[in-house]
Amino acid sequence: MRILGIETSCDETSAAVVEETGNAAKPWAVRSNVIASQVPIHREWGGVVPELASRQHIRDICGVVERALQEAATGWSDLGAIAVTQGPGLVGSLLVGVSFAKAAAAAAGLPLVAVHHLAGHIESLVLQNGELPLPSVVLVVSGGHTSLYLIERPGTYQLLSRTRDDAAGEAYDKVAKLLGLGYPGGPEIDRLAKSGNDRAVALPATRLTHADRNAPALKGDLDFSFSGLKTAVLRYVRAHEGPLTDQDIADICASFQRVVVGTLVERSFVAARRYQAQSVGVAGGVSANSRLRADLQARGVRREMATFLPSLSLATDNAAMIAAAGLRKFRAGITASMDLNADAALVL
Ligand code: KG4
Ligand code: ZN
Repeated sequence: MRILGIETSCDETSAAVVEETGNAAKPWAVRSNVIASQVPIHREWGGVVPELASRQHIRDICGVVERALQEAATGWSDLGAIAVTQGPGLVGSLLVGVSFAKAAAAAAGLPLVAVHHLAGHIESLVLQNGELPLPSVVLVVSGGHTSLYLIERPGTYQLLSRTRDDAAGEAYDKVAKLLGLGYPGGPEIDRLAKSGNDRAVALPATRLTHADRNAPALKGDLDFSFSGLKTAVLRYVRAHEGPLTDQDIADICASFQRVVVGTLVERSFVAARRYQAQSVGVAGGVSANSRLRADLQARGVRREMATFLPSLSLATDNAAMIAAAGLRKFRAGITASMDLNADAALVL
């Protein structure tokens, strides 16, 4: 069976066709994954402008879906279902994908599957690598989220911890902005950090020891916090005498990245040990980070723990991961009705 996936939660309009392989160990294959990025539009404003994002999704969605079907040599009658991101994300952006998917499902007489964006990021690991050895601890780290999940059975996602304030990708983007670098900041800092000294600037790593008042069920010590780190960079830059040289900026990037990546990897492995995980996965836009990828794999080798990452094209927002998560849900017998609505704050 083939499924059409649609993703419009933020600033990428994406459509993909994913098909079942019949192989239980590696259940899905990507036939096409078309992504129309809006980065050049939002770059001018230093961040995503929600109204511009929704308008651009409307312009792009039909062409992107047509291309995804064409590249996959797939007609509407070859599809078994349509999966769409229901949330979380920008509501105006989500509505474009949800409305399109409902209309297409009605017109083509296909079942509709509603997908949580983070389930999509998690299933990108399975799409790339095949089923994970379970139980697995998966870190989803993006512009909007930094959360650890425990997966005990395929398709179940138990939240272990999350960020109390900024997401890691958000911290990357904000630090890049205060250093005068381009948008999005993650890839820029990643690039510049390569020529910096990661011990040049002393920056704090936050440890949380108390339960989150807003989520008392979560223990707390696996939680993340990045706003203090961002403020520490801001203070350092303000206190710096004279303009920052290129080397200063590279040193700040490298030092910032060492703390962020160190925290992400450390906490993932603490969780893995606590829950006796057989594997650790990292997904979401920040999983494209070169140091995070290298450090995760090195730590995995040292701890004799299997580690998993998506390919770079499956790391940042894309519809193939939504199609994969949609296939999982469809096979579990869960479909959506025609009164499906976008939900900006959908919980997994
Ligand atoms: O998953 P994603 O595409 O969108 C959200 O769901 O948020 O993640 C986007 C985030 C941005 O904050 C971007 O700066 C960050 O991922 N990012 C990176 C890298 N590539 C993208 N952060 C660090 N290093 C990278 N190479
Ligand atoms: Zn995302």
